[in-house]
Amino acid sequence: MLIGFMGAGKTETGKLLAKKLKMTYVDTDDIIEKEQGMTINEIFAKKGEESFRDMETELLDELADLENHVISTGGGMILRPGNVKKMKSMGIMVLLWADPDTVYERVKRAGTRPLLNVEDQKGKIREILEVRGPIYKAVADLEVDTSRFSPEEASGKIVKFLKEE
Ligand code: S3P
Repeated sequence: MLIGFMGAGKTETGKLLAKKLKMTYVDTDDIIEKEQGMTINEIFAKKGEESFRDMETELLDELADLENHVISTGGGMILRPGNVKKMKSMGIMVLLWADPDTVYERVKRAGTRPLLNVEDQKGKIREILEVRGPIYKAVADLEVDTSRFSPEEASGKIVKFLKEE
């Protein structure tokens, strides 16, 4: 499973990783959007963040028995301790990490992340990372810094780690 903040490169690295491992790539945000028939922005606006978090928790149960999949998770999936427990039982947890400036450069124009639809995006990124940073790092089996490595390099590092496991 891939965990990490918005803009950490989960999608790009995850797709490459799945290809290298001959596995199938899935993304929890994509599945939730399809199931709800709405974008993440619309879900946050119409149903609120708490409902979205409930959808994430329910989805984990649906995905629990999947094998041979690379599962990329939304940046907030690790916020609920119950989610983390489930995720740990589902497989190796790989944290993709990027420093706040890199995250900002990657997400600033997208407009697809409701939590960052604010005036002071940089400040908001730092604020959320301060809370989540220790959680991401505590639950990860492996950490890869995508500010320093390309998706190709990052996915290669993950493959190497999994082979040594
Ligand atoms: C969120 C991250 C997003 C998405 C939602 C909330 C978060 O996913 O789930 O906007 O709380 O960090 P990505 O990390 O794939 O952008």
